[in-house]
Amino acid sequence: MSPLDKPRNPFLPGQPATVELFVGRQAQITHLLQRGVRQTALGKPTVFFIEGEYGIGKSSLANYCLQAAEQEYGLLGISASMAGQRDLDGTAESILKSLVTSAHRNRSFWAKVKDVLGRFVDGAQLFGVSLKLSEVAAAAPRLADVAGFLETLRGLLQYLPSEGGMQPGVFLVLDEINGIASHAPFAHFLKGVVDRNALQTPSVPLCLVLCGTAERRKELVACHEPVGRLFDVIEVPPLSRDESSQFFLRAFESAGMRVKKDALERLVQYGSGQPRILHMLGDHAFWIDSDQIVDGADVDAALQAAAKDFWRKYVGPQVVDELNSADYRSILKKIAAEDPLAPAFSRAKIAEGLSQSERGKLDNFLQRMKQLNVIRQGEEKGEWVFNTPMVRTAMFLFAEALAN
Ligand SMILES: Nc1ncnc2c1ncn2[C@@H]1O[C@H](COP(=O)(O)OP(=O)(O)OP(=O)(O)O)[C@@H](O)[C@H]1O
Ligand SMILES: [Mg+2]
Repeated sequence: MSPLDKPRNPFLPGQPATVELFVGRQAQITHLLQRGVRQTALGKPTVFFIEGEYGIGKSSLANYCLQAAEQEYGLLGISASMAGQRDLDGTAESILKSLVTSAHRNRSFWAKVKDVLGRFVDGAQLFGVSLKLSEVAAAAPRLADVAGFLETLRGLLQYLPSEGGMQPGVFLVLDEINGIASHAPFAHFLKGVVDRNALQTPSVPLCLVLCGTAERRKELVACHEPVGRLFDVIEVPPLSRDESSQFFLRAFESAGMRVKKDALERLVQYGSGQPRILHMLGDHAFWIDSDQIVDGADVDAALQAAAKDFWRKYVGPQVVDELNSADYRSILKKIAAEDPLAPAFSRAKIAEGLSQSERGKLDNFLQRMKQLNVIRQGEEKGEWVFNTPMVRTAMFLFAEALAN
């Protein structure tokens, strides 16, 4: 099949998973829906922290639950990215933009809140709304204030219908908190919103969900210690082998493609349960295949392409340049031959299997990788730890690609 005739590509290496392609996470979804969304729809405010490594699927999980919160419980779902925000006003602006966009998506709700929110909208476009940024910026400080924030939400909720004994409420996701997690006023704001809301009768039914790595949660807590006690933490682990297989089968099937058994096993193995890597592998296999049957050769080629792609996008071209040295490559292969899911390795064990010339370069290699933020020294002597598990998997992929 020529690339011009290809069906719709189901893989989304850079975006949260669509509901159709979403696999696994049953325990996490049930937890968030039962203890969060449902309780909030019954009037009780709730707070969660979806915690996991880079690319493990935090935003996808939040997004999946947001849709369920809207469709099954009638909450107003708002997902706001804090990317690039460094202060509370910026944070409030992001929340307001997402709030207006979400309200605009819900036609009947928008008809009722137009008088209140219409001033932020420049005009409706084919793909969403265009916002009047100066109006948003002018209104943001009110939202950055704890009381103003709660009053704004309460004001809007009176226009949301209550269905089947459930109360109108808000499901608010604060995603990409990297820049703001270490900003103390943000931590105080969160604590202020939760505490003040708890004291009000009735409280604003708000299910608040933050997404971030364990490090970011620690930063937040370091800014204001009581914040740590607010969150019900939901951990997002790697996908299981079964979930990974299900993912590939479902995705390829949606494009009218089949996957051979051995090809599927290898895709699953190379992916190591890391959703971002599963999508990259699938994406390359989709484009490389020419007969609608994904076989071993397609997977080999996809592995090569995904390994390069991954290192270029997520680890940096500098590391790829370093790996042009033959000795560095063999060291890498040796490290990767260890358990691909182990977060750390020992220098002594790696040194054992190396030639004299390679062994002479091992320490330089480790130091370079440390400078490039790939690894860091562990607590035990001679132990090295990968900074993110996804990079660990990438290293494994890259070494497999070199071996082929
Ligand atoms: N449960 C899932 N089923 C299928 N695909 C998934 C699942 N979870 C995540 N993905 C896919 O994996 C990739 C990473 O997911 P996502 O962006 O949700 O991760 P993240 O943890 O929010 O990443 P980041 O740390 O960069 O914010 C995306 O391509 C997404 O489509
Ligand atoms: Mg994310």
